[in-house]
Amino acid sequence: MAIACNSTTMGSLERADNWWRDQVIYQIYPRSFQDTGSNGVGDLAGIRKRLPYLAELGIDCIWLSPVFASPMKDFGYDVADYREIDPLFGSMADFDELLDEAHSSGLKLLLDFVPNHTSDQHEWFIESRSSRQNAKRDWYIWKDQAPDGGPPNNWISNFGGSAWQFDERTGQYYYHAFLQSQPDLNWRNPEVRTAMFDTLRFWLDKGVDGFRVDVIWHLIKDEHFRDNPPNPNYHADQPEIEKNLQVHSADQPEVHDLIAEMRGVIEEYDNRLMIGEIYLPMERLVNYYGKTHDSGVHLPFNFQLLQCPWQTQAIASLVTEYEASLPEHGWPNWVLSNHDQPRIAARTGPSQARIAATLLLTLRGTPTLYYGDEIGLADITIPPERVQDPWAKQEPDTSFNRDKARTPMQWSGKENAGFSSAQPWLPVSDDWQERNVASLDEEDQSLLQLYRRLLAFRRTEQALRSGTYHELYCDPSIFAFEREIEAKRLAVILNFSEEEAPLPDLPDRYRKAKTLFSSVGESRSGLPAHSLRLKPAEGVILQAEEHEG
Ligand code: GLC
Repeated sequence: MAIACNSTTMGSLERADNWWRDQVIYQIYPRSFQDTGSNGVGDLAGIRKRLPYLAELGIDCIWLSPVFASPMKDFGYDVADYREIDPLFGSMADFDELLDEAHSSGLKLLLDFVPNHTSDQHEWFIESRSSRQNAKRDWYIWKDQAPDGGPPNNWISNFGGSAWQFDERTGQYYYHAFLQSQPDLNWRNPEVRTAMFDTLRFWLDKGVDGFRVDVIWHLIKDEHFRDNPPNPNYHADQPEIEKNLQVHSADQPEVHDLIAEMRGVIEEYDNRLMIGEIYLPMERLVNYYGKTHDSGVHLPFNFQLLQCPWQTQAIASLVTEYEASLPEHGWPNWVLSNHDQPRIAARTGPSQARIAATLLLTLRGTPTLYYGDEIGLADITIPPERVQDPWAKQEPDTSFNRDKARTPMQWSGKENAGFSSAQPWLPVSDDWQERNVASLDEEDQSLLQLYRRLLAFRRTEQALRSGTYHELYCDPSIFAFEREIEAKRLAVILNFSEEEAPLPDLPDRYRKAKTLFSSVGESRSGLPAHSLRLKPAEGVILQAEEHEG
């Protein structure tokens, strides 16, 4: 599909390989989407069964969290074989069928590539730890103890404790940025690069549409393994990793050359997408677009909305700042939730979740929607005996448990919310009998229907997909911005308050405008702007009088 791109950001190029600019990505956490194997854990056949739901919802591209062979210590982010599907999720034949059927339903499919570390059960690591002379010794990061007999430096694991594990057999430490059972690969070793790039080609040859690359900013560590400096702002209720600033353990300048090489592999194929998972401040995040249009990742995930207080002014200024920081070839993207962070409805409550949906699908850039957000899944109580998250188990005192964002999709009012005939690996929400796809389908104004309407509207409005962005208005209750392409200008006006509010002052071109879309319901369409009062937590889209393009 050729896409007419916004002239202000793309020049006159119309490129099929920019399909992802126009699309909506939907993240599936496979353990929790649909179980067909009656073991309480979702699987590939379950995802296949739900493709019609996804196509009808109106998303375009699915990203699957890892489905590769794994001992599941970090639920698949600990890969034991990059070229096998874990039997828990099905077989390679199931994967091939899923990919085929996704494509024939008009959906693209992205995989999760986990290059920073493997499982300690991966055959490479088993070899590497077997002796100091082993040919794969240098595929991982092995160091002698410090002169005082302790670990080689002060680096802390992202899941708490030292990031170094002493291995008795060979008398050295290995480095693990996450669990002890997730040793980091040594990406400075060219053999590691070749082997891992070949795994990318293995999946690209099968026809996957691209990858989300896990913790991409971690891949290269300081050559001299210097200590990280202490974080002067650390306070005790933060996870232990925050004690130090990650100056030397991640985001090293050399990582960009490596990413350029990885992108080169993606570029061997037509129309594939590379997204990077990166938690960094904006000014460092945008470096991951690369110096040129094909040397970085296409989309460094933008997690700003996940971390920002739910307040108009904070959000409006972060959008402005983000837009201003993008390099010329950088296309924006937005994320509201993922499998590592509290869900949006848990943060904002149910009525603001509607504003959040409207914001996500009207800002400039590729949106990523997280499964279950469309039915308003929020914080779910996880009884202590059912905690699964390895991080929460290692640091039980930190307030957040990632399980709360990973609970089963709720399909119906049937047993276990239609997710599984067995007890699900994590509990469903207390309100599952009402909060499920089948019930929300029946309700005209449900959040699910709002997502469907927004996705359909976005599809028909090129100004929303590829128009320019600029802010129109912001006060503590209302945030309004304009999206413009050629002669078309749309104003998106979001009422973040729980009170009715008058429309803010808008430019004259909206004097005779009519409501094209309202998050409250279709009955508000066509209402003239001059008589419109915003309902509590309502988002509306108005169309300005056309001008000479
Ligand atoms: C990424 C994943 C997270 C995982 C970690 C280690 O941040 O999103 O779930 O625990 O990497 O692989």
